[in-house]
Amino acid sequence: MSGLHVAIIMDGNGRWAKAQGLPRWRGHVAGVDSVRDVVRAAPDLGVRVLTLYAFSSDNWKRPPMEVGRLFWLLRRYCIRERDELVANGVRVTAIGRRDRIPAAALRALEQLERDTAEGTKLHLRLAIDYSSRAAIAEAVRTLARQVAEGRLAPAEMTEQKLNHLITRGVAQPDLLIRTAGERRLSDFLLWEVAYTELYFSPTAWPAFRREHLAEALADFRRRERRFGAVPATREERQVAVV
Ligand code: IPE
Ligand code: IPE
Ligand code: MG
Repeated sequence: MSGLHVAIIMDGNGRWAKAQGLPRWRGHVAGVDSVRDVVRAAPDLGVRVLTLYAFSSDNWKRPPMEVGRLFWLLRRYCIRERDELVANGVRVTAIGRRDRIPAAALRALEQLERDTAEGTKLHLRLAIDYSSRAAIAEAVRTLARQVAEGRLAPAEMTEQKLNHLITRGVAQPDLLIRTAGERRLSDFLLWEVAYTELYFSPTAWPAFRREHLAEALADFRRRERRFGAVPATREERQVAVV
């Protein structure tokens, strides 16, 4: 099996820290180790695209001190992990708004995007200041502008065109994992997860390691994806294999 797109809502940093008697931000610090471990393991587990929810547009509601720490950590990650990411053939790109990211963190992020542009083993997408509803609205605005300028008929505002603008050609996730027990999407990839398999792990993100990812993928492989069709008969499956 190859070429899976896995998306992860990395949740539970604050609760993990609190359980250890530590301040919330220490959970974010520990969460970086989980990112490193999962990114290292992903290609061997058949993952080719990994989308990590690092900061939602609603996370601006958090205390400035916590937000500041998160962007400080992002900058440190981009600088410290650069060499290993390049050596491992990881291409890093960011999705989400860029205009509100603190300047130093944005510089480091864009430098990392440039330095890793040739990576082919794994596409690591970091969702930062990301809101799925905002991304969908932006795509709709783009098409609406073309209609207003007379370059597109309303009937040509198709699902395919919207899909292309929203996903930028990246295939929909095969598997979405949310850690730390909550069962909600929190404005993550709403359009893209139409047929994505969902997996909820009780493990908090700072405790999440490659074996947890392997377990999620093993669970995913046991599922039957139908995409609205009827399940394939045994004979049809055998024909497909031949
Ligand atoms: C996820 O952990 C990290 C971010 C949202 C940036 P949380 O900080 O949400 O941790 P909990 O959910 O409060 O435990
Ligand atoms: C979602 O987690 C965002 C990230 C993991 C970056 P939150 O902790 O912000 O989501 P809610 O508030 O529990 O829905
Ligand atoms: Mg949370």
